Amino acid sequence: MLQGKSIVLGVSGGIAVYKAIELLRLLTKAGADVHVIMTRNAREFVAPLTFQTLSCNPVHTDLFDLSQEQEIDHISLADRADLFILVPATANLVGKIAQGLADDLLTTTIMATKAPVLIAPAMNSHMYENRIYQRNQKCLDELGYYILEPVSGSLACGWEGQGKLPDPAIIFAAAESVLVPKDLLGCHLLVTAGPTQEEIDPVRYISNYSSGKMGFAIAAAAQQRGAQVTLIAGPTNLTVPVGVHCVPVFSAAEMRSAVFDHLDDIDVVIKAAAVADYRPVDRSVQKMKKTADKLTLELEKNSDILAELGQQKEGRILIGFAAETERLLVHAAEKLQKKNLDLIVANDITREGAGFDGDTNVVKFLHADGRVEELELMRKKEVAQQLLDRVMVLWKTKQP
Ligand code: CTP
Repeated sequence: MLQGKSIVLGVSGGIAVYKAIELLRLLTKAGADVHVIMTRNAREFVAPLTFQTLSCNPVHTDLFDLSQEQEIDHISLADRADLFILVPATANLVGKIAQGLADDLLTTTIMATKAPVLIAPAMNSHMYENRIYQRNQKCLDELGYYILEPVSGSLACGWEGQGKLPDPAIIFAAAESVLVPKDLLGCHLLVTAGPTQEEIDPVRYISNYSSGKMGFAIAAAAQQRGAQVTLIAGPTNLTVPVGVHCVPVFSAAEMRSAVFDHLDDIDVVIKAAAVADYRPVDRSVQKMKKTADKLTLELEKNSDILAELGQQKEGRILIGFAAETERLLVHAAEKLQKKNLDLIVANDITREGAGFDGDTNVVKFLHADGRVEELELMRKKEVAQQLLDRVMVLWKTKQP
């Protein structure tokens, strides 16, 4: 996987620098051509000569070093890279990238690259928990940077907690998975995500707890695997993944129009959105005032977008979701059949780790041919990859 790949290893100043040395050894052993950039603080911990000897390449340190080569260093390194790995990434480095600062060779090169960037943070556990740091990390995660979370353990500063750099072998495995093959290249994929909002009056609406995380994870992963992705998203707090075309909507009716407006050339539709089944019959133009002790809202059915797509399939692959609280397999199988789907992702939202807002899910895949696959508890990002593995097979079998 990493044979012949050009990797920029960015090293910032933390005690975990020694693990970057071990990682470098693993990378070069796998046949990667590794170019190391060290920040000034990293050089306080380890001399560049160590990295230079192990990488067999000069170590880059200065933004304005004209002695090293003819090309502009940060641009040539940024262009040359298949992958950036930042190990260890300090809170300062993560913060600078998140804010768009580029004041040294490492941050400038990261800003100039189009290669994927894998960030392995390591720091004191209180720094890691700091909400400003967490905000910065979340921002990078949502922008499509790959974050390898630190693990818990006893830290160099004497504290116990989360902040420890994972073992070099784990960072190595994460680097391999970032460079996944572009097996969905040429596939046009439409994903819906998030809740819908059905307005009652100018200040109120009916909605549900969907966070949109599952759909956004699918969109991001599909884009990374080479697909052209249109994401039709109800209101969420999430950042649109890099390279994904997003159409924001509010109501189920808007989602339906957006789906049908963008259906040309679509090979696969994945309906991860939690669409409201009903909307108020009348939307009050003015804010409704509280008068009577009881209030009855009259609701009417929204059209079932996925069922409609199932009736006019035209060779498209259709994937649905079924979030249930009881009789999971029965309800999911019914929806699979009734909506004419190729696969449905079923999850029992009452199970630990499978809720709407969390980062994990426990799902089953029900296929049109009757197969049922039960997956372990995993991160939504991993569920997305697993689902796309199945989508890829379905899509490939339809290729001429
Ligand atoms: N769906 C849709 N349009 C709707 C309702 C649902 O496209 N108006 C899609 C969802 O995006 C999901 C699948 O259909 O992929 C199943 O949605 P779900 O709400 O679980 O099922 P419903 O068919 O609405 O049935 P119920 O609410 O009775 O469980």
